[in-house]
Amino acid sequence: MTDLDAQDPLATYRDRFVGTDGPLVYLDGNSLGRPLRVTGDRLRDFVGGEWGSRLIRGWDEGWFALPEVVGDELGRTCLGAAAGQTVVGDSTTVLLYKAMRAAVALRPGRTEIVVDRDNFPTDRYVADGVARECGLRLRWIDVDTTAGVTTEQLTKVVGEQTALVVLSHVAYRSAWLADGPGLTRVAHDAGALVLWDLSHSVGSVPLALDAWDADLAVGCTYKYLNGGPGAPAFVYVARRLLDDPDRPLVQPVQGWMGASDPFLMGPTYAPAPGIRRMLSGTPPVVGMLAVQDMLALLGEVGMDAVRAKSVGLTEHAIALADELLPGTTVASPRDAGRRGGHVTLNHPLMREATAALWQRDVVPDYRDPHGLRLGLSPLSTSYDEVERGLRAVREVLDGLT
Ligand SMILES: Cc1ncc(COP(=O)(O)O)c(C=O)c1O
Repeated sequence: MTDLDAQDPLATYRDRFVGTDGPLVYLDGNSLGRPLRVTGDRLRDFVGGEWGSRLIRGWDEGWFALPEVVGDELGRTCLGAAAGQTVVGDSTTVLLYKAMRAAVALRPGRTEIVVDRDNFPTDRYVADGVARECGLRLRWIDVDTTAGVTTEQLTKVVGEQTALVVLSHVAYRSAWLADGPGLTRVAHDAGALVLWDLSHSVGSVPLALDAWDADLAVGCTYKYLNGGPGAPAFVYVARRLLDDPDRPLVQPVQGWMGASDPFLMGPTYAPAPGIRRMLSGTPPVVGMLAVQDMLALLGEVGMDAVRAKSVGLTEHAIALADELLPGTTVASPRDAGRRGGHVTLNHPLMREATAALWQRDVVPDYRDPHGLRLGLSPLSTSYDEVERGLRAVREVLDGLT
């Protein structure tokens, strides 16, 4: 244990996660979070209890409402979103599609979707597909891959032609923490909507979507929300867009679960009131259970304390990189106020180094070009783990050079 662990008020929370008592160094919490121990019990109990004995009755006894119930918990704990604006379901990719289509339909006559060249691939690919389907053009922002989109850059490209701006709040490669309220204001001043991808911030960086006057947002739950592989995503739509009687919000995958009365089995689709209309098919109940456990823990700790630990971990990683890895460059913002929960370190041999590290049970991630990405999940990562990881990087690089 390091002095930093001894002084860490959140240190004991690490024991609540599976596998933290072993030697594995896990530095990839922003690809897949470790499971909570309580989730193991919960899943076992669910199979024997709610699923095994209540069977089909479970839908009426709570499962139908779960996407909105968990959405509201997420909104309250992590998103700064009042109830009734968030639901859980589908994957991030599918929700990006639904949200983009819904958004551009709210800005008829406008011809462009703005997206940056270093946004996560699925965001760019979906934007490209939606632009083609809807007869729109993509307007690209070129960004520094060690940073991200600024308000100055966005101001230069938006205008009366812009229907929608698609941005990540924390950049998947550099960890650039975008100015949420500032960028939203720039888009709104041009009359455009903004769709935020929160996958790398939710559960790590406090969010205030209602205070930002945000329009739409999506994010995944298998990173800092520890929902497990393939856990469902979430979508937020501001109440003012859901409730506008003159311009009803319409999403393109009009399935029965987003209809006003699924069991009416009527001849035509009528959207459910409110955020439920963003649903399409049967809710992924099992996938939401682990998310609820992590939301309960984040609520107990509080997002400000989680962020303070996250900043402490990323500062520690950068200080160690400066000390131990002289041939390496920090490809993330050095200003903690502009950095999310991960740190990327560039070196020409990082691809080979990552493979060698995995073999030694030290698990970071790799992103081109030459980036070792350290995803430091605040509640399950110790300062000592970061230090053991960076010392292993040093040894591996020494062996490769
Ligand atoms: C920013 C961002 N958006 C979206 C996704 C993935 O979306 P999906 O869950 O649909 O695979 C990821 C995955 O890592 C991501 O980092």
